Amino acid sequence: MAPRKRVLVPPDPATLDKPRGRGRPKKDPNQQKAQYKISARERARRSVQAKLRNATKSAAKQENKVQAKRKKVKKLKTSAKKIEDALRGEKTRVVDQGDLTDLPGAVEELVDGSPVIFRPNPGPQEEFLSAPEQDVLYGGAAGGGKSFALLADPLRYCHNPNHRGLLLRRTLDELTELIDKSKQLYPKAFPGAIFREAKSTWVFPSGATLWFTYLDRDKDVTRFQGQAFNWIGVDEITQYPSSYVWDYLRSRLRSTDPELQQHLCMRCTANPGGVGGWWVKKMYIDANEPNVAFGAKDLDTGKTFVWPEGHEKAGQPLFYRKFVPARLTDNPFLMADGQYEAMLRSLPEVERRRLLEGDWDVAEGAAFPEFSRSRHNHITQRIVGMVLCSCVYIFTICFGEWNAR
Ligand SMILES: Nc1ncnc2c1ncn2[C@@H]1O[C@H](COP(=O)(O)OP(=O)(O)OP(=O)(O)O)[C@@H](O)[C@H]1O
Ligand SMILES: [Mg+2]
Repeated sequence: MAPRKRVLVPPDPATLDKPRGRGRPKKDPNQQKAQYKISARERARRSVQAKLRNATKSAAKQENKVQAKRKKVKKLKTSAKKIEDALRGEKTRVVDQGDLTDLPGAVEELVDGSPVIFRPNPGPQEEFLSAPEQDVLYGGAAGGGKSFALLADPLRYCHNPNHRGLLLRRTLDELTELIDKSKQLYPKAFPGAIFREAKSTWVFPSGATLWFTYLDRDKDVTRFQGQAFNWIGVDEITQYPSSYVWDYLRSRLRSTDPELQQHLCMRCTANPGGVGGWWVKKMYIDANEPNVAFGAKDLDTGKTFVWPEGHEKAGQPLFYRKFVPARLTDNPFLMADGQYEAMLRSLPEVERRRLLEGDWDVAEGAAFPEFSRSRHNHITQRIVGMVLCSCVYIFTICFGEWNAR
């Protein structure tokens, strides 16, 4: 093909002096529309192309629909298999409510009719155990069922051989109590699960593991260096004076398993107060309303952690947190005879408000039992008033001395 020649046309002298406007020149509305003549062959070719384009689009739509249906079928099959296994009770006895909702009602009836080892108490415990957020605090009243729920939570993933869990308490004595409870629960949930005392680790038939350990000094977190867990739980997190341990553990939260990657979990429980009550309150309770997910915030600046500019999720929160308040009244196993409630009611006011009502404000102002959110504003006003008065007083003295000079 011969190279195309460029023809340079000299500018029209009539338009040379006129200032040139910016952008494309406006069209003349009176100008006649250009008529293009295309051959019958070209017309036929274009109509075939248009038809092909439409057919390809509709095929892609159908394909997406088929893919979605295939996914659904796969999910149903997995759920049915899990429930069949659970009912047979050979490998696992854990049934996820999420699996039941996909299957017909008859399956739910069958499960309901079978003996149940553990079922979340309706209300906060259910909310905690079904929370999809990465980082959740279940905190509040004593006896609400927090530690028990923390023990049950990792069982959701123990069918997966790649599951690696870590459950922490501050001291060995407190940890022993949790281990004892787990010994009652885990072998029933996963027949064949073994607790390896030497390593203080549960090993499940699938190969999944759950390490129970304690950590009483912040600097010992380096014990976890280089390790990876997809589920991390801390019981009574307010026993840690600062967020150092919790923040460090976040760096250990990862998995290469596609299923577990979708459910990376950090779970903690606490009663209000304790040496670390202040930071736990700031991180979870003050950050948002209870039971409502929020983008995790920097404890120092209060700003939400977000993906940086240039990232496909730029501006979106890095991960979500939630606070689920625990109430004794939601644990029928302790409320039934009312004895434990009577014990809590007989405590001195500060302790009663912390442990019976799960009041986080009383923990913050523990030296002032009269402190409560409803009276907070009144007290703040009085303090501001006192500060203002003393300012006026100081000003008067200085002014007097100045005059005397
Ligand atoms: N869903 C449940 N099914 C059966 N028993 C439960 C359930 N939830 C809680 N319990 C029972 O209630 C008891 C008290 O619960 P748990 O020890 O978890 O309370 P807690 O909120 O951790 O209390 P504390 O604040 O004192 O640590 C448990 O030992 C357990 O026996
Ligand atoms: Mg507890």
